[in-house]
Amino acid sequence: MQIRDFDVDLFLREYWQKRPLLIRNPWNAWRNPLDPDELAGLACEEDVESRLVTRYAGGLAMESGPLAEDRFSKLNGSWTLLVQAVDHHSPEVAGLIEPFRFVPDWRIDDVMVSYATDGGGVGPHFDQYDVFLVQGLGQRRWRVGPRCDAATPLLPHDDLRLIVDFEATGDWILEPGDILYVPPCFAHDGVAVGDDCMTYSIGFRAPSRAELVEGWCEHQVDGLGDEDRYADPDLPIQSNPGEIAAPAIDRLHAMVMEALSDRDAFARWFGLHNSLPKYAETDWRPEEAVDTQEVRGLLAQGVPLSRNPASRFSFIRQGEQVILLFVDGHCFDCAGDLAGLAEKLCAGSSLVVDPGLSASAEVIGLIAALIDQGSLAFDEGD
Ligand code: SIN
Ligand code: CO
Repeated sequence: MQIRDFDVDLFLREYWQKRPLLIRNPWNAWRNPLDPDELAGLACEEDVESRLVTRYAGGLAMESGPLAEDRFSKLNGSWTLLVQAVDHHSPEVAGLIEPFRFVPDWRIDDVMVSYATDGGGVGPHFDQYDVFLVQGLGQRRWRVGPRCDAATPLLPHDDLRLIVDFEATGDWILEPGDILYVPPCFAHDGVAVGDDCMTYSIGFRAPSRAELVEGWCEHQVDGLGDEDRYADPDLPIQSNPGEIAAPAIDRLHAMVMEALSDRDAFARWFGLHNSLPKYAETDWRPEEAVDTQEVRGLLAQGVPLSRNPASRFSFIRQGEQVILLFVDGHCFDCAGDLAGLAEKLCAGSSLVVDPGLSASAEVIGLIAALIDQGSLAFDEGD
């Protein structure tokens, strides 16, 4: 599905990460991409992350999935079901990300889908991430408040981070196809108006400094030997032996900074780290390694390849010639024909490889490796 009359430049300049924006049905022809029953089915699956939030007289209660199949028939009153990463299971839901790819793929997290009965919602809260809330079915009243931070008072609750004094600055009823953009940390509260309310949250990610420092340091530490340590062959006499003198601090600090300052190594680590799959899904992994002759034949015939919607593809340029391709926690160094192929693999969810490349052992090797790890498959139309 396409969106029209949406000024991306204006959006990025005035709203992205700055302030909320309501976009009234910008789709060519909005169609709800997922049946509520399919969502309920996903919430019963072991490897799918889901939550059920029910409203009772005293507030909201949350239970984590997987839910028992008969759980839904026992529900009454206001409730909402939330299922994470539905784009990994439904190509139609994955298609909702496409219009938002003006934000680079590495910043995209997943599509969470909620289904609510009249009055259902998760309460006033704020998230650390940007989100486009697309109304799929039914109506939801969204109220948006000011930017919050760590000092914003929260209600004591075991599972939900609910804001104590939520005061709305914006208040809208969203109809199917309407989109609300909420930047990180802006308070928001969505309540279903009537039954059969479905909302699709296209969520983004932004690594925290703590996560980056921890991950990068841990990675670099693995490569450091025990003999790589502080040395002071030029040790001067100091007046007070109790002092850790400034030159020693300088040298210690430099040891740390040197070990962490390699930008190329950082880029390789970050690309890999960011491509790690959030949920270990193995559905696309073939039982036996793919036959390379078969790969050659299918490439020569121009059979299209599709990316697993759960896979994370990205690339980094390293120098003029080399591209590092990152897919689901694996890194492939690509030069020559492979570099062009790596860029195409990252540009869209499906591609036809130039049949002229089907004779290249390197190309076959890369495609076969991606098929074997469950990130790619030939789309033979079955
Ligand atoms: C919802 O879809 O009900 C919740 C989405 C959100 O507020 O993050
Ligand atoms: Co939220």
